[in-house]
Amino acid sequence: CGIVGYIGKRDVAPLLLEGLQRLEYRGYDSAGIVVNTPKSPALKVVKAKGRVRELESRVPKRFAGTTGIAHTRWATHGAPSDINSHPHLDADNNVAVVHNGIVDNADELRAKLVADGIVFISETDTEVITHLIARSQADTLEEKVREAVKVIEGTYGIAVMHADFPDRIVVARNGSPVVLGIGEKEMFVASDVAALVAHTRQIVTLNDGEMATLKADDFRTYTTSGATTTATPETVEWEAASYDMGGHDTYMHKEISEQADAVDRVLRGRIDDRFNTVHLGGLNLDPREARGIRRVKILGCGTSYHAGMIGAGLIESLARIPADAEPASEFRYRNPVVDPDTLYIAVSQSGETYDVLAAVQELKRKGARVLGVVNVVGSAIAREADGGVYVHAGPEVCVVSTKCFTNTVVAFALLAVHLGRIRDLSVTDGKRIIEGLRKLPAQIQEILETEEDIKKLAAEYAEAKSMMFIGRVRGYPVALEASLKLKEISYIHAEAYPASELKHGPLALIEPAMPTVAIVPDDDLLEKNRAALEEIKARSGRILAVAHREQEKADHTILVPKNEDELDPILMGIPLQLLAYHTALALGRDIDKPRNLAKSVTVE
Ligand code: G6P
Repeated sequence: CGIVGYIGKRDVAPLLLEGLQRLEYRGYDSAGIVVNTPKSPALKVVKAKGRVRELESRVPKRFAGTTGIAHTRWATHGAPSDINSHPHLDADNNVAVVHNGIVDNADELRAKLVADGIVFISETDTEVITHLIARSQADTLEEKVREAVKVIEGTYGIAVMHADFPDRIVVARNGSPVVLGIGEKEMFVASDVAALVAHTRQIVTLNDGEMATLKADDFRTYTTSGATTTATPETVEWEAASYDMGGHDTYMHKEISEQADAVDRVLRGRIDDRFNTVHLGGLNLDPREARGIRRVKILGCGTSYHAGMIGAGLIESLARIPADAEPASEFRYRNPVVDPDTLYIAVSQSGETYDVLAAVQELKRKGARVLGVVNVVGSAIAREADGGVYVHAGPEVCVVSTKCFTNTVVAFALLAVHLGRIRDLSVTDGKRIIEGLRKLPAQIQEILETEEDIKKLAAEYAEAKSMMFIGRVRGYPVALEASLKLKEISYIHAEAYPASELKHGPLALIEPAMPTVAIVPDDDLLEKNRAALEEIKARSGRILAVAHREQEKADHTILVPKNEDELDPILMGIPLQLLAYHTALALGRDIDKPRNLAKSVTVE
């Protein structure tokens, strides 16, 4: 979900609607806005089920306001509807609240409020917060909000307006991001800098347990117990323009096309040719500690988990440390043995995914050492970790991750060389991998130039109801990610298997109507992979191979340039992003905003 708010002199509605558009990728089943002015403090509200443009069409011409808060929602409690969308107001229209997160004890609090005679309008957990604030007898809005957040359990990023206090917006954070944008005689608040960078690059990120009061010409921050905190604005690097579509029809296409530059950025300044190694400034891991690591455990969700799987393979092969990846949520719920000699690595584009953050917090509580491989600088996971590697992919807006996936894998390759060169990776192998890394941007560009051919293939495969993706060892996470990408945006059923597992079950599915995409690199497993192609062909299965040379058993082969064996997975995933893209396009899907999915899942 996304929050945006403003207090100043400008006409607030267009400004907030534009901010919501920029946040829409975080949730888009309903949206709402509330505004007022110091002279007419009554709260005016409009809400709508559906996209931000639906809300926009409902906002009346005369909707004057210079203070306002707005929200775009991705339903957790209560189905998407006008009523369940935020802001939530009390019966007297005095208090308006927008909220990201989940109030865990909402049912209990709701029952108490209902017993006291409060009538609830919506089914949401957020409405509880509204009533708690509205009922408070405290003298100031800050105190009212403080009383409310003291009794709620769970996660929240909230922004609150009150008709009796029209000169301010009060915000609070616990587990869901809240950033303040500091302007000239105007202040902004949002759940994501994406909504702010068009207006100001001076940002204050609230910590958990922190609140803030925004007035047009001033802001202050304090804890939920009232102690003043110091907040020094930081300047964000990302340009407003990097959030625009830049001539592409979708963000996904833009982000796929940007990958050569993105990879260049993650490599920049990190390669040390003198020692054939890699410097990673933010790692906070001295060589002695690096030598003491006995295992590496990588945690992430979705595409980041897949990037982590490739990362584990790179660390194991280059640094010779046993490594594996696991979905963060699985990890945190199985009461894992936390071992002092294990290095834990949390992977996240947004740096906010709740399951990953919660795993990091649990690990830290148990004294583990945790690194972050994160895209968004200063995000919760980056701040919580002991150190890490920023992946520098730039802002990623499309719900499904492409360039950040690629950059994350490259970041893992850098980390693997760094760890490897402290341990057993030879100078020559260090050099070999570094040279391979340097070739990546040009090779990525070469792949992107074959887009027209891939588009033709997509037209053919778009008719499939179901698709199989196979790969072996390094190729398996590539297959998993390609299958995820296809199902996320095209809604074609897809599943991924290690090629070696085919004969243990999935072969039963193979028939002409179930095409297989096979990852077939020219490495020591080439012959094994070819054998899998034969097994499929023998059952009249159609095959699309991604390979370094033509595959005779395949109906089609997408050729990619060869790099070092260890780095091949980075390149082999890219044509399959384009395949998923063009398949979804051929089927007329809403590519940047696939149904039921959100970019950042900041709830459990
Ligand atoms: C959501 C998105 C996925 C993403 C995952 C992890 O499920 O839809 O595309 O891979 O979250 O996000 P993160 O920001 O932690 O990488």
